[in-house]
Amino acid sequence: MNRKIGFKVLSLILALMIFASVPFAATAGFGPEDIRVDSDITRVNVTMYGDSQTARGFSWATKGIMDSDVMLYEIDEEGNPVGEIKYYSGEDNFFNGYFYHKAAAQDLTPGTRYAYRVGDLDSNKWSEVGTFRTNDGDDKFSFLAIADVQASREENFIKASKVLEAGFATLPGAEFVVNAGDFVNDCTNDEWEWFFKSFSHLLTNTTFVPVAGNHDGNLKWHWFENQFNLKKGPGCDGVTGVYYSFDYGNAHITVLNSNDMYPMSEQQLNWLQNDMNKSDAKWKILIMHRPFYSAGKNVNKPDTVILRNRVLPVVEELDIDLVITGHDHMYYRSKSTAYGKVVPTEVITEVYNGVETQFEVNPSGITHILPNTAGTKRYQVNQNADAPILDVAAVAAQPDKSMFTTFEIDGDRLVYKAYTVDVDNNNEVELFDQYAILKTIDGAAKEDWVDLDTSLANNYAKNIVNFFQHIIQCILSYFKMLLK
Ligand SMILES: [Fe+2]
Repeated sequence: MNRKIGFKVLSLILALMIFASVPFAATAGFGPEDIRVDSDITRVNVTMYGDSQTARGFSWATKGIMDSDVMLYEIDEEGNPVGEIKYYSGEDNFFNGYFYHKAAAQDLTPGTRYAYRVGDLDSNKWSEVGTFRTNDGDDKFSFLAIADVQASREENFIKASKVLEAGFATLPGAEFVVNAGDFVNDCTNDEWEWFFKSFSHLLTNTTFVPVAGNHDGNLKWHWFENQFNLKKGPGCDGVTGVYYSFDYGNAHITVLNSNDMYPMSEQQLNWLQNDMNKSDAKWKILIMHRPFYSAGKNVNKPDTVILRNRVLPVVEELDIDLVITGHDHMYYRSKSTAYGKVVPTEVITEVYNGVETQFEVNPSGITHILPNTAGTKRYQVNQNADAPILDVAAVAAQPDKSMFTTFEIDGDRLVYKAYTVDVDNNNEVELFDQYAILKTIDGAAKEDWVDLDTSLANNYAKNIVNFFQHIIQCILSYFKMLLK
């Protein structure tokens, strides 16, 4: 009898120990002591949200109903909390089976490391801890860019995440990450879940600069804008993607939505001109998914032909240094090019960070960069690319490996490198291409720039005309293809 009582007491003690251990198991050690990590919180990411020194957007998804709260801490370089916890509240939106939550912090301190959780303050359910750093405003910074993860199986998302992992290992100080579009293939919940799950250890610990690709919502409306909390440019309806811009150090970076009226609405084109013309930043960088110049299988399709015919002439007038794109799943870097012609540029050699580096001095054209794919779907070089694409190429190649690119800006110098990652074997990283600019000319806003109309209503008629021009271009491209 006593043995039975003893056994029951022992069982009860064991059960209590196991029960008591559950909240401890679910409690991570960062934040108020009784924090509960909730696995229903997925797709957590931190994005640029206007002022890169003082603001960030937060976005995440849940299947269950929750509030939309963020808790933030300043942390020191060792990751220890400094100062008080701050809370921010946002809003959620139910869309295709998930509640999408968005909140923004707009009173952050420049040049500061933060740790954060997203979740629900009332029910005390939170995500794991993430970190990011605000821009300190000086003229020395770096970032990573990848494109076209575009996977449809979880294993391929994981492979692509190894490419970005290699990027951070190569450039540990990268302050933000660009994905130049096509996160997913069929834009399903499974694919978005796999993307964020595979990349979460990277993306929850940096600031993300997402770009809308055609696979992210060209035909499936509002998917892209639901995944990320971005400060939309004026006139941006968010239907097929988002356009936005931000300053970082001495650079102005503008992100376009090249799905917008297939590929660019009149209000977006007007906003692009306003946005770039009023900036006095030294470096001007344009990022979009569809390329002006590339040499993969998409290069002669109507949408890219329209970009080259209608949008590139506008872009040529905006003092832009770099255009970073995706979409064509091969590696392309143009020489400094203006109006379809290579611009002759002086080249000097300097030792930069201990490495002998060739700098082009004050190139007056644009360098177009397509960083291949970080995924595994690769296109071969299309020798029939419309002129002058191959004529102005510094490199047009398919190394049959996944790739990432690094951009280091240091005052007057910009150093760009492209790397291959052998994701099918041992993830070996090799330098594939590099290019550097020395720019001694200061940035300036365009004199007498005109504020162009960005309202949806006032650009409606022009968008209709553009739409029919697109139809005509489709027909012309079809006949051109038949004649080849
Ligand atoms: Fe694409």
